Amino acid sequence: MAGNLDFTKQTYTLNTGAKIPAVGLGTWQSKPNEVREAVKAALLAGYRHIDTALAYGNEHEVGLGIKDSGVPREEIWITTKLDNPWHKRVEEGIQSSLKSLQTDYVDLYLMHWPSSTDPADLKKHYPDWNFVNTWQELQKLPASGRVKNIGVSNFAIKNLEILLNDPSTKIVPAVNQIELHPNNPSPKLVDYCKSKGIHCTAYSCLGSTDSPLYKNEALKKIAEAKGKTVQQVLLKWGLQRGTSVIPKSVTESRIKANFELDGWALSDEEMTKISSMPERFKVCGDDWLPVKVFFGDDE
Ligand SMILES: NC(=O)c1ccc[n+]([C@@H]2O[C@H](COP(=O)([O-])OP(=O)(O)OC[C@H]3O[C@@H](n4cnc5c(N)ncnc54)[C@H](OP(=O)(O)O)[C@@H]3O)[C@@H](O)[C@H]2O)c1
Repeated sequence: MAGNLDFTKQTYTLNTGAKIPAVGLGTWQSKPNEVREAVKAALLAGYRHIDTALAYGNEHEVGLGIKDSGVPREEIWITTKLDNPWHKRVEEGIQSSLKSLQTDYVDLYLMHWPSSTDPADLKKHYPDWNFVNTWQELQKLPASGRVKNIGVSNFAIKNLEILLNDPSTKIVPAVNQIELHPNNPSPKLVDYCKSKGIHCTAYSCLGSTDSPLYKNEALKKIAEAKGKTVQQVLLKWGLQRGTSVIPKSVTESRIKANFELDGWALSDEEMTKISSMPERFKVCGDDWLPVKVFFGDDE
């Protein structure tokens, strides 16, 4: 990231050379009837990066919101994700997402979780397939032009090692989208990704629904001293540690406020304070999956 303070205009250069806008709009739990307006509001406020997923059930309305905004498609970065029960149907998965989003291509296609779940029984993992096989299928997509970059999500170091060390892996994921906020900062995983040329996008960067971070006294103090909101401080912390951030909101005033990030920065001291908070919580676990994907170490 450049040394200026125009954070909302910043991009990160991925290992493919593509530039991902540093701030995007998240859409998990954004209901179809709300997300269209939210996406339009975000794009009109200046956002140029929208994060969605087949699993969110709102790609169609995300696509409508993009159209409503009037912002040209080529100015917008769209990320979507392959759902777990679709690991054996990557081609079908991307076709479905492109159709719903009403676009010819996505900028980033992520394997949502390293779990090849059997669609016939979501409690079961395929006995004859895993995320390495899925990655082999994903690797075919960039050549088609329908997917500009491929990446992963919810990959811990252990699974990244398996993927990167497999002889079939020809493309290093451009991005690992992971849960990152001050109560789940995962410094080892972030450093590991950096060492492999994998950019990290921070999800649940505000602490998600009913975030306990909003009541954190240390964060409130820093926000007050800077004349900013706790949410703005959380986003700035994510940006200053080199991750992209994708705050979700369906509230226009919050969407706008979450993009007011230019012209100020956190000091080194403030960054250190936020990075060393003792409290821990994680929004997305792996209990609902047929396989473990988090291993209790720094994720
Ligand atoms: N790859 C994955 O497995 C994965 C997992 C989780 C999330 N994600 C992605 O990351 C995005 C962000 O994560 P998230 O949705 O878990 O949560 P988040 O962005 O950390 O927090 C969203 C919550 O904060 C509220 N909020 C937003 N801005 C606010 C503000 N300025 N003041 C007060 N409250 C505010 C929102 O409320 P309102 O909407 O009601 O305004 C919503 O309840 C997701 O939407 C999704 O795109 C990916």
